[in-house]
Amino acid sequence: MGADIGVTGLAVMGANLARNLARNGFRVALHNRTVAKTDALINSYGSEGEFVRTETLAELVESLERPRRVLIMVKAGGPVDAVIDELTPLLDAGDIIIDAGNSFYEETRRREADLRQKGLHFVGVGVSGGEEGALNGPSIMPGGSQESYQSLGPMLEKIAASYNGEPCCAWVGTDGAGHYVKMVHNGIEYADMQVIGEAYDLMRSLAGIEPAQQAKVFREWNTTDLASYLIEITSEVLEQEDELTGRPLVDVIVDAAGQKGTGRWTAISGLEVGSAVTTIAESVFARSISSQRELRKITRDVFPAGVNQAVSAQEFYGTKESQQDFVEDIRKALYASKLVSYAQGFDMLTAAGAEYGWSLDMRTIASLWRAGCIIRADLLDTIMRAYETEGETPANLLLAPEFTEAISECLPAWRRVVAAAATYGVPAPVFSSSLAYYDSLRADRLPAALTQGLRDYFGAHTYQRIDKPGTFHTRWSEDRTETEV
Ligand code: 6PG
Repeated sequence: MGADIGVTGLAVMGANLARNLARNGFRVALHNRTVAKTDALINSYGSEGEFVRTETLAELVESLERPRRVLIMVKAGGPVDAVIDELTPLLDAGDIIIDAGNSFYEETRRREADLRQKGLHFVGVGVSGGEEGALNGPSIMPGGSQESYQSLGPMLEKIAASYNGEPCCAWVGTDGAGHYVKMVHNGIEYADMQVIGEAYDLMRSLAGIEPAQQAKVFREWNTTDLASYLIEITSEVLEQEDELTGRPLVDVIVDAAGQKGTGRWTAISGLEVGSAVTTIAESVFARSISSQRELRKITRDVFPAGVNQAVSAQEFYGTKESQQDFVEDIRKALYASKLVSYAQGFDMLTAAGAEYGWSLDMRTIASLWRAGCIIRADLLDTIMRAYETEGETPANLLLAPEFTEAISECLPAWRRVVAAAATYGVPAPVFSSSLAYYDSLRADRLPAALTQGLRDYFGAHTYQRIDKPGTFHTRWSEDRTETEV
């Protein structure tokens, strides 16, 4: 009997997915460039299920049942192409190559088109949940042909996380759709972490609440509508003491956030598909600024902290009672900003669906994110319900009845927090830009009218009028009369 699936690339994510498959009763053929890794996996975890040891990709392919399914878990970019190039001549029409890494969706689209020409299926699968999720049940977002999903889906659904008995795995769309949805997941993940970071910073800088105390605040928040994995692990990180110095660990970690690219891709794609993902983009920029350590240092020397602060924060939020009020305000600002980031994420999914011809179903996508992934949160179940009623899809999530009330309820607190951040010089880019997004959407008139006037002035770019159809230009450098163009 051949193996059900082959896994090549046995670094921790690949190894854990292979183990997860084996634990769920699938016969898994293993391959890694360095055979020692394959042996190490079999030595340590061989008893977890049925593994087939192979030394070359040819052996891996040989060992598989047809249609063959080969899951690649290597570094995104060139390494994926290298494995595909080596695999392709070994496979037959109808076989399936699965890329479960964080690949760029445009590359997935290209690879899928190439391989389709050769009669092969290429499935770009978004997998979220980190190492632990890969082993015990990740959220899985597969793209590619529906035909390939018929063969692959049941396996993926079996190893995925589940929420109320429903697997957090479903076909999301053709070619790059799976990786696109995972990319947006990561963009939201960036925003989720940034709003948590801003809440932490404001509580610390303006209300003087130390990390260990904040761990309790976040734990408390985790029992509210903010309940989520990232809020939960925030308490754990904040209460961690550094072994070496006894200080809060967060105080000895260098304040420069890394990024592998998925957040940046989300921001770029938002621009490309014409969706204003300001909250997500601002979260990416916040990481970029954090990493400009040298520039931050010299700027700090020129503009030392405290400059432009009218009164001390203590004066404002000094009493215990107002400190508590402030913390509650921050919780609301966090929740409202989080809603905006999800609204933007789903908005860009809608725009991308139209752009790339994917029939993305927002309800399904929300359902996949309810468990297993990094952004898992109670909120996702509410979002799923917001998309449930057929024919009544909200134009933007903020307009779903589930959320309009929440936004209104949070609004005064949200404004107070953004105002306090600006007054006392604490950066809160995502709290502020999310509020600006909300205010922009609801504004009666935007200054874009003036922008249009200026564009027409210097570049004859024309404008439309509010009172009659047509396209117009004012002869700015002549007699300033208007002409229809
Ligand atoms: C997940 C994570 C995972 C990874 C990110 C980290 O869903 O399991 O998103 O994919 O941790 O790629 O990205 P950054 O290094 O860019 O933060």
